[in-house]
Amino acid sequence: MRVRAEQSDPASVQADVLAVPIYKDDIPLSGDLAKLDAAAGGVIAEAIEWGEFNILEHYTALVDGGSLAVSRILLVNGVRRGRGAWRARRIAATATRRLQGHGVERMALWLRDGEDEDAFSAAVVGARQGTYRPMDVYGRVRDTDAMKRSVGEIVFLDVPGGQQLLDRSDILADAVEWGRTLANRASNDLYPEKMAEVARTLEEDGCSVAVLDPDEMRALGMGSLLGVGQGATHDPRLIAIKLPGWDKASDDRRLAIVGKGVCFDSGGISIKPADRMEEMKHDKSGAAAVIAAARAVARLAPDTPLMAVAPMVENMPGGNAQRPGDVVKAMNGRTVEVINTDAEGRLILADALHWAETQGATHLVDIATLTGACAVAFGELISAYFCKPREWGTEIQAAADATGEWFWEMPLATEYRPSLDTPHADIKNSGTRDGSLIKSAIFLHEFVTKPWVHVDIAGTAYLTADKAWSPKGCVGTGVTTLARLAMDYAAGPKPRA
Ligand code: BES
Ligand code: MN
Ligand code: ZN
Repeated sequence: MRVRAEQSDPASVQADVLAVPIYKDDIPLSGDLAKLDAAAGGVIAEAIEWGEFNILEHYTALVDGGSLAVSRILLVNGVRRGRGAWRARRIAATATRRLQGHGVERMALWLRDGEDEDAFSAAVVGARQGTYRPMDVYGRVRDTDAMKRSVGEIVFLDVPGGQQLLDRSDILADAVEWGRTLANRASNDLYPEKMAEVARTLEEDGCSVAVLDPDEMRALGMGSLLGVGQGATHDPRLIAIKLPGWDKASDDRRLAIVGKGVCFDSGGISIKPADRMEEMKHDKSGAAAVIAAARAVARLAPDTPLMAVAPMVENMPGGNAQRPGDVVKAMNGRTVEVINTDAEGRLILADALHWAETQGATHLVDIATLTGACAVAFGELISAYFCKPREWGTEIQAAADATGEWFWEMPLATEYRPSLDTPHADIKNSGTRDGSLIKSAIFLHEFVTKPWVHVDIAGTAYLTADKAWSPKGCVGTGVTTLARLAMDYAAGPKPRA
């Protein structure tokens, strides 16, 4: 899919389809929409009147182009919430997904008045997301050639940043798609060592890639990470990708993004129920997100002082698996009693976060499909984050808002720390169910000393059903936010109003 900026009127743009967002308060038509409708000969108003276009979120109606230059108009019901990036991303995704299989060579997208650069950038990402086909990963015979046809080119009307903005956004979109496929890959196909191979391809983008094997991790004292991986036949790896800007950075500004990379989470000895266990192949979504974000930033702003860290394991039961009650020693010297082997994400992140600090990271973000409790509380749309200090959280919030991802801050209530006390170690990896989302962050807090944000994407990394804007499966959550955060971070601290 190509993206092109064009300075042209929606009424006269040359394309097969003109996609137009329409919001609840646009009915009855007025202003810019009424003008377009008049130029089209009233086909939009007619469709609305006929009930073709109801007001369900992300409902689409494909109507005849009337007297416009385009042959069809695609009305996409948007949701006016938050910043423009949020709605633009979904509108664009819904539009391209709706047109999938139709052999549309050119779609024009008119975001209408007042959208900023961030909204257009998010629309490029959304447009690519809408054409995503999980079937392309492993499907061989099921889909017909017609089903595989995506929109060939998108013409964006009145882009504030012009073609250059679109081209840069396309690099980001490409990384989202790439990371999404990584996260979607099956556990027999993508295990820790394979992920390390994937990471090494970033050397072509000028990154330096280090991969620690179990012996090296043992020598460093990463007992917490190694304990999780010891039951699996596929050995753990710790992947670290440094951008060219990492070594050039001044000592007080280096950002590490750390992603949970559990290639399969069976729960280990505290084994999960069989129902929907197959979804736990996506427990590596955090790792996929940080690697993909590193790729985008390496291509867009290689001087960014960024390192992506991905602790990769398989959490499996077996004769050598770690048991409930085992006590492991983390790299930072803390001992951990493993109450529940299914609370494994925090165990691998503990060592990865501390290791990132030893590498010189001054600011940290971790991203993880960490708790079912987060998915229960926030669902598929909203990622929850914890931060310390608040100012550092504000920066990731801004990056999420700017790229059309929905993040919400949760309280890092350190008052809950005593609930993780145990007589057998410095801390235990899991307590009771009450407050368990917050307590997972409290656990991680024990292993960081620098400004830090923890993002829980357990609900948002993976869609359990098809949506108007996306097929079921992984969606590439976090890639745009992390990439944007890193690039804003590179630009230096912002003066605050
Ligand atoms: N990977 C899971 C969390 C998860 C659940 C992600 C559902 C996405 C969808 C995580 O490792 C886990 O098993 N967490 C446990 C923690 C508990 C044992 C303290 C959970 O949430 O049940
Ligand atoms: Mn688990
Ligand atoms: Zn897990």
